[in-house]
Amino acid sequence: MSNVSADLVIVANRLPVDRVEQADGTPGWRTSPGGLVTAIEPVMRANDGTWIGWPGGTDAELEPFEADGMKLVPMTMTQAEVEGHYEGFSNGTLWPLYHDLVAKPEFHREWWDSYVSVNRRFAEKAAELAAEGATVWVHDYQMQLVPQMLRELRPDLRIGFYLHIPFPPAELFQQLPWRRQLLEGLLGADLVGFQLPGGAQNFVRLVRQRVGHKTHRDLVYLPDGRTVRAAAFPISIDAAGFESMARSEPVAARAEEIRTALGNPRKVFLGIDRLDYTKGIYARLRAFSELIADGHLDVEDAVFVQVAVPSREQVEQYRILRDEIDRLVGRINGDLGRIGRPAISYLHSSYPREEMAALYRAADVMVVTPYRDGMNLVAKEYVACRFEDTGALVLSEFAGAADELRQAWLVNPYDINGMKSALLDAYRADDRETRRRMKAMRKTVTQNDVAAWADSFMQELSAIPGSHGKAVRPAKRS
Ligand code: F6P
Repeated sequence: MSNVSADLVIVANRLPVDRVEQADGTPGWRTSPGGLVTAIEPVMRANDGTWIGWPGGTDAELEPFEADGMKLVPMTMTQAEVEGHYEGFSNGTLWPLYHDLVAKPEFHREWWDSYVSVNRRFAEKAAELAAEGATVWVHDYQMQLVPQMLRELRPDLRIGFYLHIPFPPAELFQQLPWRRQLLEGLLGADLVGFQLPGGAQNFVRLVRQRVGHKTHRDLVYLPDGRTVRAAAFPISIDAAGFESMARSEPVAARAEEIRTALGNPRKVFLGIDRLDYTKGIYARLRAFSELIADGHLDVEDAVFVQVAVPSREQVEQYRILRDEIDRLVGRINGDLGRIGRPAISYLHSSYPREEMAALYRAADVMVVTPYRDGMNLVAKEYVACRFEDTGALVLSEFAGAADELRQAWLVNPYDINGMKSALLDAYRADDRETRRRMKAMRKTVTQNDVAAWADSFMQELSAIPGSHGKAVRPAKRS
């Protein structure tokens, strides 16, 4: 698969598969965690694209290969780059900064240097692989400099950028010592996509204030004649794929098995998240445990299944979080559980999609309570799997998905008492009420699926005019 000349190139920090060591010590591949991979995979398949990304680890150079019909081009990172670019600038600086400072971001000049050089390498690879006039779609916060670097190398390309996480308000973003460079990096794209309109507005305002370009509504006019558009494209899932998996015989049988293994409680609560401090796992488990301690719920009737998918385990804040959750689950089960009846059934592991679908089928109340989340595809996956219009969704107001899934039981995850009430209401809601809500949410999710998301982004990208023809002054330096 060498010398590919691709019409569609995806650039993302990660490949859709992660290189892992199997039990027998030989290398193998596993689906990477997170919403980005879930969303892009179907788009790739439909467009015969080439995907440039990191396969995890610090292995020696790997050759391009095909997996599941997708052309994958692995980009190796050194240990220093993993620490500086990935764990450092991407996940120690940008991630907490873009998520409302849920944790404190750290600013280190050597992390920034590493971020710049990794972005450059990815841009050079995309420039090498893209066919004349091709479309390159760059993804997420780890790659924000790629659009500009790529444009300098290949002005013939159409470049789109999509941010999967929230884009913060100017008041937070401007803490970044490299704020101007990041904005200019993104302006290399023709179209910059965000989850919500608020993110696009934050971006345009910052470009006007910090870079000094002329803007009008969602457009930025650059002195070189290019127009950059910033707009919202709420991401989604392969709704039909999830539904048909959930309807399948093996998944139905597995869902039954799960409920039996849990002791056939009246209601199963479920949380599925990457083990990340933005997801609000701690507060949610506390809220549930207090309902038991207060006598509103009984462990004979209700159990909380929490799946925590291991994530970014070398980053200190993630290690601390894991210890905190381990301790909390131990304490709750020690205090409130009975023999064969833990209050919380806690699984620190990642699972294949079929197992997730079985868990969604088995769960009566899905609990998604992040402090801040770009979209949260787990919420949409749950809805897609509830083909009988049953089941309740408790959803944080601060997840992007709350904009669309208005019929969920919406909660403020900082308000423990409010969460307790919502959990109890969802638990007690009658069939008519849950059906009414689920039906409406299912309509939203099935109509706005990942194919519709990708189509609308691609259509907008191809509609951006080549030149705006306006007289604009060069941006002022700040
Ligand atoms: O959607 C946000 C995101 O950070 C993706 O960019 C990423 O692939 C996913 O979550 C999982 O995180 P990571 O790649 O750090 O394991």
